[in-house]
Amino acid sequence: MSFLRNLRTTIKFREVHLNPTQRRLARAANVEDLRKIARKRLPKGVFDYIDGAADTEWTMRENSSGFKRIAFRPRILRDVSNIETKTTLLGKTIDFPLVLAPTGFGRIAHSQGELAVARSADRANLPYTLSTLGTRSIEEVSAVSKGRKWFQVYVWKDRELLKEMLQRASVHGFEAIMITVDTPILGRRERDIRNGFTLPPKIGIDTLLSGMIRPGWVWDFLRAEPITFANVGGSHQGGDKSPIYLSEYINGQFDPSLSWSDVEWFQKHWKGPIILKGIQTVADAQLAAKAGVDAIALSNHGGRQLDYSPAMVDLVAPVADAVGDQVEIICDGGIRHGSDIVKAVALGARACMLGRPYLYALGAGGEAGVDFLLETLRRGFGDTLALTGTKKTSDLNRDIVHLRDHR
Ligand code: FNR
Ligand code: LAC
Repeated sequence: MSFLRNLRTTIKFREVHLNPTQRRLARAANVEDLRKIARKRLPKGVFDYIDGAADTEWTMRENSSGFKRIAFRPRILRDVSNIETKTTLLGKTIDFPLVLAPTGFGRIAHSQGELAVARSADRANLPYTLSTLGTRSIEEVSAVSKGRKWFQVYVWKDRELLKEMLQRASVHGFEAIMITVDTPILGRRERDIRNGFTLPPKIGIDTLLSGMIRPGWVWDFLRAEPITFANVGGSHQGGDKSPIYLSEYINGQFDPSLSWSDVEWFQKHWKGPIILKGIQTVADAQLAAKAGVDAIALSNHGGRQLDYSPAMVDLVAPVADAVGDQVEIICDGGIRHGSDIVKAVALGARACMLGRPYLYALGAGGEAGVDFLLETLRRGFGDTLALTGTKKTSDLNRDIVHLRDHR
């Protein structure tokens, strides 16, 4: 009997969540867990579009491997009872050094799409970047978030359309533009080719069949209003009646002649800060600094453009040495834990940016999933500061990281 009494005091059942979303999230501890849940809930074509990358996907794997090559050199007995995760980016405070990267077509992961992500970022006091190819408009996003919002620009051949988008972004409180410069044409994503993936996703027999296994997504998708390129007007817009292959659409609309002289055009038409996204060498980081942009995002588009582009974290220290005193550096690609953010910032980045993780979170649990992700990363970042003996973000420097395989 006394054995049973002891047992009773030690067995405690986990909290039972009646809400199915909360139940799913209660079983997740990290980004990989969210990815696994999203994989079960999203149709294969949609999951593969989000999860996949170009060609052999080496660069995508390398982005993550880059972080695994870096270990810490932790310091102890440094009174870490009060950790300060806040930092500044483009001159304003953010709660910890993270930005939500632009991703197109948010509503294929969840009907709330970009609105859910923008609201969640606002609550977390982090900047949210709306993609040109978003499925919610500049106006709609601005209506739900008073937080920091950046607008990502794909450079269309039609410059009038571009000017009009910049004006709308300015009027609706977007603080900065992020010009993506690694997409003169779309990278070749083999999973999408195999799946015959279109936007919006075709609700064909395949989707319905996979929908029988994934009824939550199909119900959410069919009930919501049709997906369109909400930021792009007129004949460029696409729509539910004519699903498009992304590569054909992008290769037809984006301007492959884009060059350094176009940066001046943007400086003329946009008065706020300008960030160049897609810098992949020290030489281009130097040209960007010379062109007078405010920040650069070291990014290979999560490995979705040029396969065999290097891991971005490897580039942080050399770029910081070359231009760290002239531009702010954002590191993007492969960030999955708070500790990855600590590593990149210690090497010289001002902040990190991530894409897939919040799309997995959306697919796994909608807006609550994104809240869960951002809180998990914030905690992971703060805990890593404490465990490396770092009191505040601004104290981070290269002394705490150890490059196991420096190249
Ligand atoms: C993207 N990315 C992207 N970038 C951009 O400048 N404009 C865009 O519209 C998109 N769209 C997009 C869609 C999807 C589904 C993904 C996964 C990514 C790239 C994105 O901004 C970012 O660079 C990468 O996602 C970073 O890598 P991780 O965090 O996904 O590893
Ligand atoms: C992508 C484009 C939309 O990576 O940027 O799929």
